[in-house]
Amino acid sequence: MAETLYARMRVVRKVTEGSIGVTLILDGELPCEPGQFAMVWVPGVEERPFTLMNDTPVGLTIAEVGPLTHALCALNPGDWVWLRGPYGHGYPLQGERLLLIGGGSGSASLALLAKRAKLHDLHVRTFLGARSASLLMLAWYMADLSEKLSIATDDGTLGFHGSVLQAAASDLPWATAVYACGPEGMLAALAASRKPDAPPCWVNLERVMRCGIGVCGSCHCGSQLVCADGPVFAVEKVAAYLGSGHT
Ligand SMILES: Cc1cc2nc3c(=O)[nH]c(=O)nc-3n(C[C@H](O)[C@H](O)[C@H](O)COP(=O)(O)OP(=O)(O)OC[C@H]3O[C@@H](n4cnc5c(N)ncnc54)[C@H](O)[C@@H]3O)c2cc1C
Ligand code: FES
Repeated sequence: MAETLYARMRVVRKVTEGSIGVTLILDGELPCEPGQFAMVWVPGVEERPFTLMNDTPVGLTIAEVGPLTHALCALNPGDWVWLRGPYGHGYPLQGERLLLIGGGSGSASLALLAKRAKLHDLHVRTFLGARSASLLMLAWYMADLSEKLSIATDDGTLGFHGSVLQAAASDLPWATAVYACGPEGMLAALAASRKPDAPPCWVNLERVMRCGIGVCGSCHCGSQLVCADGPVFAVEKVAAYLGSGHT
């Protein structure tokens, strides 16, 4: 499929993600690197970027926040959705011990990474956080792909009572690489807490996007375009700009 053409795919499975959204499994394939995204369109509603949480078959994990995500969450098996992509640059697999840190719907960006890591017999520890237990996403999915899965909630309703970064702090020395996706405040705190001898750290940014292909400029982060140069960046490349975006 050419990247700028739409593929129409049918929903074959729908999994409820607490009170926050759904995961949709579609009947098509969009081979990609972990962390790459697709522009997802529901005719008559909107088109927005979503991480490919799986590529074969395509999986999307959606937190309901506005018109398009409301429409996507209302889809049922048999309904259609339109996608173009995959776009952007994904996460590199680096070293043998991968520490994955996800906040909210940022968990979606780590799912295919964990799956690829398992395929390569790498060690994966995953920390997922949310404001409350009912807002956690993909814990059910990541459990099978991680040799350790830890949950953190801001209100203490499940797992560690506090931020996901606090929960993950003691595992940082174990990691050969760190991968994070979530609200920019979380990514900014991760960048600020890094020590000089810290392992490489990759972050996935979720800036507002219109075109998804480097044309409109709406997703700039300093001099870089998140859609074309990212959405995955080495944390040093974007640390100065974290928190200046949408989230
Ligand atoms: C590369 C990339 C990957 C993404 N992957 C996922 C994913 O896997 N799952 C998922 O649920 N969401 C993901 N998002 C975020 C998603 O694209 C937005 O939340 C989208 O705007 C929702 O559309 P909407 O019409 O439902 O809501 P909108 O009306 O567009 O937005 C609803 C509210 O969210 C705010 N908002 C808009 N865009 C963003 C954003 N990028 N981040 C935070 N707040 C925003 C708006 O200001 C508004 O207040 C991703 C974004 C990017 C850039
Ligand atoms: S979304 Fe248009 S340039 Fe990135």
